[in-house]
Amino acid sequence: HAADVQLSIDAGKPGPVIHRNVYGQFAEHLGTGIYEGMWVGPDSKVPNVRGWRKDVVGALKALKVPLVRWPGGCFADEYHWREGIGPRNQRPVKVNTHWGGVAENNAVGTHEFFDLVEQLGAEAYVNGNLGTGSAQEMAEWLEYMTAEGNSTLAQLRRKNGRDKPFRVHYFAVGNEAWGCGGNMTPEYYVNQYRQVATFLKTPDNNRPKFIASGGNANDTRWTEVLSTQNIKFNFDAIGHHYYVFPSGKWEGKGSAAGFKEDEWISLLSYTQDFEKTVAANIAILDKNDPQKRIGLYLDEWGSWYDPEPGTNPGFLVQRNTLRDAVLAALHFHMFHAHADRVHMTNIAQMVNVLQAMIHTDKTRMVLTPTYHAFALYTPFQDATTLPATLSGNPEYALAGKSLPAVSASAARGKDGKLYLALINVNPREAQTVKLAVQGAAARRAVGQVLSGEAMDSENTFAKPEAVKPKPYEAQARDGALSLPLPPKSIVVVALEG
Ligand code: AHR
Repeated sequence: HAADVQLSIDAGKPGPVIHRNVYGQFAEHLGTGIYEGMWVGPDSKVPNVRGWRKDVVGALKALKVPLVRWPGGCFADEYHWREGIGPRNQRPVKVNTHWGGVAENNAVGTHEFFDLVEQLGAEAYVNGNLGTGSAQEMAEWLEYMTAEGNSTLAQLRRKNGRDKPFRVHYFAVGNEAWGCGGNMTPEYYVNQYRQVATFLKTPDNNRPKFIASGGNANDTRWTEVLSTQNIKFNFDAIGHHYYVFPSGKWEGKGSAAGFKEDEWISLLSYTQDFEKTVAANIAILDKNDPQKRIGLYLDEWGSWYDPEPGTNPGFLVQRNTLRDAVLAALHFHMFHAHADRVHMTNIAQMVNVLQAMIHTDKTRMVLTPTYHAFALYTPFQDATTLPATLSGNPEYALAGKSLPAVSASAARGKDGKLYLALINVNPREAQTVKLAVQGAAARRAVGQVLSGEAMDSENTFAKPEAVKPKPYEAQARDGALSLPLPPKSIVVVALEG
């Protein structure tokens, strides 16, 4: 048995608040992420509320989804909002050129999207079209959504069934402008942004936070250019994207399941590269924006594997295993550690696409291990970070990769309780974490543990509950509280006096 890992938490030194939107989601018109996975239409036999599946929306509500980003992704830069309003049977049918070349019938448009977020009780992040759109089209979309008076666009919104304005919390000018959004240089994009953002106007009480499309993966140049160009209007944050692949390469990413331990550690170890990139981008912002006006939003992240054999490769279908749950939890700890700049993130994507919360098959649905990881961490939404320092933490190493075996994050929840999250990334060895808490009594830990039999344990329609949280409890002995961590596990507990 390995020596105990020591963890010291200082409850008297509150740090930044973890914005609940750090637990945000992304839903794109891609594969069955929206159509089938969530939207079945009001006439479907699948139980629904105005077209949105009851089972899926219910499960997402239970997850306290705080924010949904829509309609893309790459799709956003080919989306024209006027095609998605008015009677559904009269909307144009387009080709979804990015994702599988399938028909896009525009059944889900602005009104349907806001119905979804309102059913979820979530905030709305609308991604504007810079690639094939214009300043005018974006400005008019915002007017359509937010205008209070009697302008023609406000009246059109009313005619389409919505009297009061929609609440738009975030609005982005394009997506991945370096790639599918137009293959631009940051210097070119920044000028486009300055021009377009000038015309994005809303009533003051409905002003979204405006997001500029940022860099990808280990890039820092986009942040540098965007933050030195003194953008005067409507610039609140930079949206950076970072996906991880077990192979570390775009071509031949690796498998979602059926992998060996070298691919387990390799995938998880890339969270350290992500953290380095986040730190590097934040250092640039700290230099150029010391007042911390500009946020760094990580508005696409997650695992990306080779497509599941037999599926349309443009649908980005992948299995979801315990490894994805552990990966998500490592991301959460990194987001908590940078909570003063990272006020929002969106996992890609909510249902059926990439690292999803939920998989559906016609009328059935199954909750993925990633869903359960998000569920465990709900007490961290809007919680206040607390210093949590590990010592004697062994390095878990294999095949040239390594990362610390234990990861910890502590916070004071909105409910006043002290929460602690621990991850043991080692799939073969248990760990024990010995706690020393200053400024609060901690004699008991009560919560849940998430693990599974194998590194790639997953929930299938045949075995939907193979990976799910189980109750966890530990008591102090001789005044000291020790938390045993099974191999490849996540433990989230409330600490009680
Ligand atoms: O999430 C899938 C795609 O990944 C998004 O559409 C795009 O922005 C990114 O490249």
